[in-house]
Amino acid sequence: MEPIDKLQNEIVQIKSSFQNMLKDAKNREGLQKLRSTFLSKKGEVGRLYQQLKDLSSEEKKDAGKNIQQLESFIEEFIKKEENNLENLEKEEILKNEWMDVTLPSDLFNKRPIFDGHLSPISIFNNKIQDIFLSLGFTIADGPQVENEYFNFTALNIPETHPARDMQDTFWMTNGLLLRTHTSCIQARMIQKLKPPFRLIAPGRVFRNEATDASHENTFYQIEGFMVDKNISVANLIYFMKLLLSEIFEKEVTIRLRPGYFPFVEPGFELDIQCLICHGKGCPVCKQVGWVELVPCGLVHPEVLKEGGVNPDVYSGFAFGLGLNRLAMMKLAIDDIRWFESGDLRFANQF
Ligand code: PHE
Repeated sequence: MEPIDKLQNEIVQIKSSFQNMLKDAKNREGLQKLRSTFLSKKGEVGRLYQQLKDLSSEEKKDAGKNIQQLESFIEEFIKKEENNLENLEKEEILKNEWMDVTLPSDLFNKRPIFDGHLSPISIFNNKIQDIFLSLGFTIADGPQVENEYFNFTALNIPETHPARDMQDTFWMTNGLLLRTHTSCIQARMIQKLKPPFRLIAPGRVFRNEATDASHENTFYQIEGFMVDKNISVANLIYFMKLLLSEIFEKEVTIRLRPGYFPFVEPGFELDIQCLICHGKGCPVCKQVGWVELVPCGLVHPEVLKEGGVNPDVYSGFAFGLGLNRLAMMKLAIDDIRWFESGDLRFANQF
């Protein structure tokens, strides 16, 4: 038999043996085997190409074309089977990993559903905001990472002033600090707004101090301030009494003692008569009959001036209510550290 006839015969045979084998190759392994049997360098098609060297150049052309056709035929069918397989696999995955994305995650994981709830701080915060909103106040906000100017300087606490030591500060390496009180928002707003205005500013504050039952390094305050013509201590007392009787849901007796804060003049500590013993003295008020609750005062003329407000025309009051202390008094919580503890035995009570 002439080499050319032999070659053409073989092309036909290889094609039909490929078609037979293809029927049985139903997985990736089988297809891989087909590939190496027919298409690898030493595979069947490769052997056909090698036989070309025994042919005349005219014959070579013809036979070469036939081999090429066979090669693409094989390649095409293997590819087709591979694609079919891939689609089947995808369907299988979709079938097995199907889920209803609209299902609540707890149900999906077959866990019981627990309702979340607000922390006591949020509950009081919301309540106090409601009270002040109904009195025509608006809510202001400021950054927790503050600069020295608004935390101290604008509040009449110059650099050399010993009052900077009153509050232990967390300093950042870039010269900024974690605000030690919400009074920074007071300073910011006095500079930004034109009087008259009345605002409250709730927020988280930070102190770099050792913790104990009544000291925590992070807690919450609500700053309140009002600037207008003829604001006096009488206005301050009026709003404080209103606020406290709303919160404690009864008439409360208050008293003002002098207190020192560089940004108020005069400054006060506002005490309420102990709600447990009505002033007779008990463990909660440490036998004093009074509980210190709200530092406050009239905005210092220097603070107004720094904010571009003329202290000869305008005056204002400011207070800094400690939300944790308030919640402790109202809910008889004996340790401030509970608030940040993340302890569910505490949190689930409210
Ligand atoms: N900023 C003061 C503090 O955190 C509290 C305060 C606010 C006092 C407003 C007077 C007026 O200690």
